[in-house]
Amino acid sequence: MAYDKAIKTPILSGGVGWQSIGKEELEIATELLTNPELLWRYRKDSYTTKFEQMACEMTGAKHALFVNSGTSALSCCLASLGIGPGDEVIVSAYTYIATASACIEVGAVPVPCEIDNSLGIDPVDLEKKITPYTKCVILTHMQGVPACIDEVRAVAKKHGLYMIEDCCQAIGAKYKGKFCGVVSDAFAWSLNYYKNITCGEGGCFFTSNDDNYARGYYQSDPAGIMWNNGIGEGSNVPYFTRAGYRASELCGGVAYAQLHKLEGNLAATRKLKKTLLGALDPNPKHYTRQIVGDPEGDCGVSFAMIANSAEECKALTEALDREGLAVGSAYGNGAFPDRHIFTYWSGITNRTGATEKNYPWHDPAYKGEVDYEKTACPKTLDILSRSLRIGIHLNLTEQNMLEFAEAINKADASF
Ligand SMILES: Cc1ncc(COP(=O)(O)O)c(C=O)c1O
Repeated sequence: MAYDKAIKTPILSGGVGWQSIGKEELEIATELLTNPELLWRYRKDSYTTKFEQMACEMTGAKHALFVNSGTSALSCCLASLGIGPGDEVIVSAYTYIATASACIEVGAVPVPCEIDNSLGIDPVDLEKKITPYTKCVILTHMQGVPACIDEVRAVAKKHGLYMIEDCCQAIGAKYKGKFCGVVSDAFAWSLNYYKNITCGEGGCFFTSNDDNYARGYYQSDPAGIMWNNGIGEGSNVPYFTRAGYRASELCGGVAYAQLHKLEGNLAATRKLKKTLLGALDPNPKHYTRQIVGDPEGDCGVSFAMIANSAEECKALTEALDREGLAVGSAYGNGAFPDRHIFTYWSGITNRTGATEKNYPWHDPAYKGEVDYEKTACPKTLDILSRSLRIGIHLNLTEQNMLEFAEAINKADASF
């Protein structure tokens, strides 16, 4: 007789932001393209401006600047704090390469730091990674899960470091009732294709400090002040020019329509995750659940379990496969060079700059010695080699969740 698998309902592929795109986005795009004179992003009542206003109201941040990507938004965050050549910025060893890349964009050196079972920065290792050159820590909230912000902030505060939150994967995540990022010096969203809301490509830089907003703004658009009168007014920050992250009004329009759908999208994913968690064995034998900084604020777009050992991870994976649920560990044997793990940031770990001077590592302003060897963050690699993650999206149903839970419970009890 054939094995009675837990998974009986088809597991459809799907997403969150892109899957909610519909007539509202189409209407705005059509309006803009049929009235091309409206395509100017710095129009006073442009959709981009409306997006920024709504994002401020929603998050509680004083300033929001819509830009062309999450990477750009992170560069704005760093520039807003005056971070540059000679500075080190501590980033999670488990974050998209863009977090580290943004540091390079402003001339600073990214330093990878261990994660703990929250899959966010380990505050104990953070303290160890601080050098006389450290200026800032960037805390990433991976896969919609709020990290343990207070613990990381306590270390940053103790050492007088700036703190940025990379909320690119966690738009809408909250921590203790507030939007992730808003208590830090700056934070960033990405609206790329994979995110909780999307306009294809886009990002947003947030700060509540006027001077820092001026710096972040100058970073984003060489002649921004020509178009957008009032930027920098009331601040003593000298005007500088740098990069070109100005976003398209078409993207701003789609982003504006999407922002209205954020809470609805997350209400659906949160409900699904709640069903999954509620049906899971509360005392599993072979794994622990990822620590979630604030379960109430979790976006609900993923569930991660961390097996007790490499052997148990392998056995769980095989048992889950038997049940019809295919999941692999985040850090395998190199079969998939996942750019969210520091060992696969080759453009950074090989210290190759855009020119043969190999800045920022060989910049005379830089006096430090960053370590990019695997041995710099062995705990991260160990945790990720035992982490099994399930994505949750708008094409999955309550029935899928119940079957996922049954598959996990059966797999856990099978050895
Ligand atoms: C954690 C994290 N940081 C930064 C980024 C960069 O965002 P973008 O792709 O919009 O530049 C991403 C995007 O995937 C991300 O996941």
